[in-house]
Amino acid sequence: ALPVILDGDPGLDDAIAWLLALASPELDVLGFTAVHGNVDLGKTLWNTGVVLSLARREVLYYAGADRPLVRSGLSAANVHGQTGLPAEFLPEAEQTPEEQHAVNFIGRTVRARPGEVTLIATGPLTTLALAFRIAPDLPELVREVVWMGGSTGQGNRTPAAEFNALADPHAAKIVFESGVKLRMVGLNVTMGCIATPERVKALQNLGNAAGQVSAEMLSAYAEVYRQRYGLNGGALHDPLAVAAVIQPELLEWQAMRVDVETQEGLNFGRTVCDLYGGTQHANARVAVGVNDAAFFELLLQRLARLP
Ligand code: BDR
Ligand code: CA
Repeated sequence: ALPVILDGDPGLDDAIAWLLALASPELDVLGFTAVHGNVDLGKTLWNTGVVLSLARREVLYYAGADRPLVRSGLSAANVHGQTGLPAEFLPEAEQTPEEQHAVNFIGRTVRARPGEVTLIATGPLTTLALAFRIAPDLPELVREVVWMGGSTGQGNRTPAAEFNALADPHAAKIVFESGVKLRMVGLNVTMGCIATPERVKALQNLGNAAGQVSAEMLSAYAEVYRQRYGLNGGALHDPLAVAAVIQPELLEWQAMRVDVETQEGLNFGRTVCDLYGGTQHANARVAVGVNDAAFFELLLQRLARLP
């Protein structure tokens, strides 16, 4: 199985993404690293433990960056609720986080298995940027970073910027310029993966805790998407990044140059994607198409394997 580290800010779609990872035999989950983002680090760290309890799995987890590198902290509690996991009956976190900082865990783990470890990031890129700054040779030792964030087009938090990019544009810029092998799964594809009422029902009908909790959280989240975007449910952003590692062929990829705007202003946090610039200066492969039905089928099948 492919060794992976999951870095994110659960966050309801991060939680579902992590359940998908834990349920997938293609992945060997070496550890989780929590970062500031949807809610503060104390909560994303606690929620990491909750996800492990839900899946009844023991995996090491670590606290990462508690704030962006330069800008002030941004939260998305308006979308994910005050705790980050909008569900009524959640298990307690039984396991406690490791003492070591996530930056050290990532550095040590990647270095122990050069060229093998994939980092799946579903939040602001602060922790990864710090790891790459502390050890500038780390990017070339990483197998690949797969990041849910950015967009080739419209943003969500602002017209120009997607939340994970806007929550730490300077970190995103560091990662995109680090030379690491990188795939970006942005809003341009994730907004096409909607948890419609039928799909939420299918998750609920799985009859296990993972399905029930996912269904409940997605119902809470659907309201925001109906009101703000006129969509028939919430977008499954972060699970698509995990699916992109399990089954890359679910998406269509295009190599291109991606720059991140770090000047404050209208375009702050925008991922400027050179769709027509050719591959000469490419620094990422960007998802430009997705087989939404096959993706949801995979998610459903996998969550069915959990308790
Ligand atoms: C991203 O922002 C967060 O709120 C979600 O968890 C996802 O990672 C979507 O823009
Ligand atoms: Ca997230």
